[in-house]
Amino acid sequence: MSTTAIGYESVLAEIAEELANRFPKSRALHERGTASLIDGGSHNVRLLHPFPPRIVAASGGRVRDEDGHDLVDLWQGHMANVLGHNPQVVTKALSEALADGFGLQTGFADALQIEVAELLCRRTQAERVRFTTSGTLANLYAIMLSSAHTGRDTVLKVGGGWHGAQPWSLKGVGFRSEGGVGFGGVDSEGLPSSVTDRVVVTRFNDPQRLRDDFERHGDDIACFVVEPLVGAGGFVPASREYLEEARRLTRHYGSLLIFDEVVTGFRFRAGDAGSLYGVEPDLTIFGKVIGGGMPLAAVGGRADILELAGRARGTRVSFFGGTYSAHPATLLAARTMMSHLVEHEHEVYPRLAEIGRVARAAVESAFADEGIHAVCTGSGGVLHESSLLFVHFPHDPGAALDDPEVLADPAHCDVELSRNVLSGGLLLEGVHLVHGHSALAHAHTEADVEILKEGCAQVARRVKRHQ
Ligand SMILES: Cc1ncc(COP(=O)(O)O)c(C=O)c1O
Repeated sequence: MSTTAIGYESVLAEIAEELANRFPKSRALHERGTASLIDGGSHNVRLLHPFPPRIVAASGGRVRDEDGHDLVDLWQGHMANVLGHNPQVVTKALSEALADGFGLQTGFADALQIEVAELLCRRTQAERVRFTTSGTLANLYAIMLSSAHTGRDTVLKVGGGWHGAQPWSLKGVGFRSEGGVGFGGVDSEGLPSSVTDRVVVTRFNDPQRLRDDFERHGDDIACFVVEPLVGAGGFVPASREYLEEARRLTRHYGSLLIFDEVVTGFRFRAGDAGSLYGVEPDLTIFGKVIGGGMPLAAVGGRADILELAGRARGTRVSFFGGTYSAHPATLLAARTMMSHLVEHEHEVYPRLAEIGRVARAAVESAFADEGIHAVCTGSGGVLHESSLLFVHFPHDPGAALDDPEVLADPAHCDVELSRNVLSGGLLLEGVHLVHGHSALAHAHTEADVEILKEGCAQVARRVKRHQ
């Protein structure tokens, strides 16, 4: 079935009405929340339309909401919870430490920080590490480091790449159909044009376009920031050729290569994904999984670059500060989680890959049975299988889905169905995912996948009833 010409107003209205009836406490809390919080929350992506479920407990593959629903949660802490919610291995370590008087902020340096840094250096290609509290800040610092190192101020990024809400990354994130803008636009007001004018947006997985962009801007490019698997842009793995060409071009033009591994770090193996490609970036950003459910991010990479933030080189880059950076309980959660993943790597990652494979196949077949062509990205190429799952509805079943420009363009994919209808419709079936994308956790079971599959079938039937 082609869904090109369908308007979803009536489906969305029906879903909104049913959600309001079945989630009355969450709805009331949302209404109350809008009086003190902008749009009732602090992270736009999580504020599902018309209101998000408000959560009271979370364990393994499930969350419980205010209305008493046990939901299969495929969002898993914004893709941070690779084992599932509140894994005992981490909660036990934290509660024992807190009972012993260690956990909240001290404002001191401690041994834990060294241990976590050593772990990261051992399991990734980083020679040195510095911690901060978010992937956004880590990206910002990495760009400052590369600018100071190269003496240049142009940043190259891919269309559809999300690197946090910081000045050098708020361009080419949202796709705009009108006027052929595509990923060429600035995504926020309030940014200095002196910065956004220096951000060049290239096309993911397009080596020729990369060569052209370097030919045009190469002498000004401080860094090329790219994810080994583009996250928000649609869970598309980079081809080996693309990342190898990125490495070659950045070396040739004296620019730095930054891998943003906030999504991919410790997702495919107990370490970085760059190693799987055999491509060594100059800097790598880590976040999400490494924090073990707590707010930790890091910039890792070449010692000579990170040392720009150090005393020996006059602290040329102000990559420091942050009252809560390298927070004790956060580092304890990180050490516990990362050590667990390293120790159980050969059990955890094959299981994640398998449950992801089964889930992607289940979603595709549920829609196919109802005559709707769905494709789930999140696997393939160098990265093989994974626990990631992004549902797309391409109009052309033969289309290559290797680039956010195809996935985000309503001319190619039914973006409204993937990003809006699906989340609301699945919530009514007891499944929580956000705007079409999700990450299964080690705690998920085949029974959870069955619920997802049946949920997708129900969403498909609902959509068809409104045609
Ligand atoms: C690839 C990527 N980079 C950076 C960020 C920003 O990280 P944080 O949300 O921790 O600031 C995200 C967040 O989802 C991300 O997916």
